[in-house]
Amino acid sequence: RTDGLATTPPLGWNSWNPVSCAVTESDIRDAADALIDTGLREAGYEYVVVDDCWMADELDNEGRLLPSADFPNGMAALADYVHDRGLKFGLYSSAGSHTCQDYPASLGHERLHAEQFAEWGVDYLKYDNCGDHRGRDAIDRYAAMGDALASVDRDIVYSICEWGQNRPWEWGRNVGGHLWRATDDLVAKWRADRDEFGLGIADILDRMAAIDAAAAHGPGGWNDPDMLQIGNGPQSGQSEHEAVDVQRPLTEAERRTHFAFWCLLAAPLMVGADLMSLSDFDRELLTNERLLAIDQDPLGIQGTPDRRDDDEVWSKRLYDGGAVAFHNRGDAEREISTHVSAVDVLGGADRYRVCDCWTGNEWETGGSLAMTVKPRDTAIVRVTPG
Ligand code: DGJ
Repeated sequence: RTDGLATTPPLGWNSWNPVSCAVTESDIRDAADALIDTGLREAGYEYVVVDDCWMADELDNEGRLLPSADFPNGMAALADYVHDRGLKFGLYSSAGSHTCQDYPASLGHERLHAEQFAEWGVDYLKYDNCGDHRGRDAIDRYAAMGDALASVDRDIVYSICEWGQNRPWEWGRNVGGHLWRATDDLVAKWRADRDEFGLGIADILDRMAAIDAAAAHGPGGWNDPDMLQIGNGPQSGQSEHEAVDVQRPLTEAERRTHFAFWCLLAAPLMVGADLMSLSDFDRELLTNERLLAIDQDPLGIQGTPDRRDDDEVWSKRLYDGGAVAFHNRGDAEREISTHVSAVDVLGGADRYRVCDCWTGNEWETGGSLAMTVKPRDTAIVRVTPG
């Protein structure tokens, strides 16, 4: 890319999972403040993104977007509030007549809306796929907004949210996208129930392993497996369930697996939880420097599976070596092993240094790697030659 944006995966917070359609101006200000108080800003989380439902019920007479009464000071003032705290401001619209919650959206008004976003000080646009498409295909609709954003005098990261339906990893960069959802929505579950909306963490990993999209992924253009559910408990409106696959909230092992894999995938990390009620465990997980360094590695390579059977071994090349994840799919603790020659680690050395990303413990190996892993947990190590 030549625009120099999103050279590493964007990090931030998004309003959809925690506040959904009830989002207000004060939720966004609180989130900006909480990014600072929790240490997340310091760790690199910088985008504060307002998702669906921020707009009034109708466009104005010229076709402009208007903020709803829940944003009484308007979007420019809110962007200022976010910028004053050393953070960046994101907004949402849809490549259709309406948003998924039936508010007016941007199809046919791309130039005008991009100009509004630039005037308001928007740094990031999440662009959904709901509403009437007026017979236009996804690439055409997403290109229209990509062109509009490129025409305004402001750097705006363009987040394409068409849920991976039209293989956006094949065209996302060409329409000006910096990230594109590769999957349906993630909810705070390990596996989705067949009769409920959304995917679980394990479902997303299956999908990311299946779609073969890693080649398109890298600086300036990222596959997006959806927002982080760390910090979220039961989804509102869902019934409690006894089945082992529907544990709520996610266990600590499941949350470690979630974060380890999103970092191994070099995914955009958008926290989708109420930051003011984050537990110490979740805050420490989200700010783990060893994991964030894997996510933000300058090569920007997406981790891929080396083995998926009873256990899973995935790896990701890093600028100075590699990261290897060992995931236990089973119900009992066990040892999972591999060898540097079988994983995507800068190789050819006699000795390697290994660092356990959870504990910080370090050791040396001639090439064998073995980790003891709890059920549904993931061990992740950084391996460096020499
Ligand atoms: C669908 C998207 O996939 C979600 O992330 C969220 O933006 C909702 N739409 C909002 O309606």
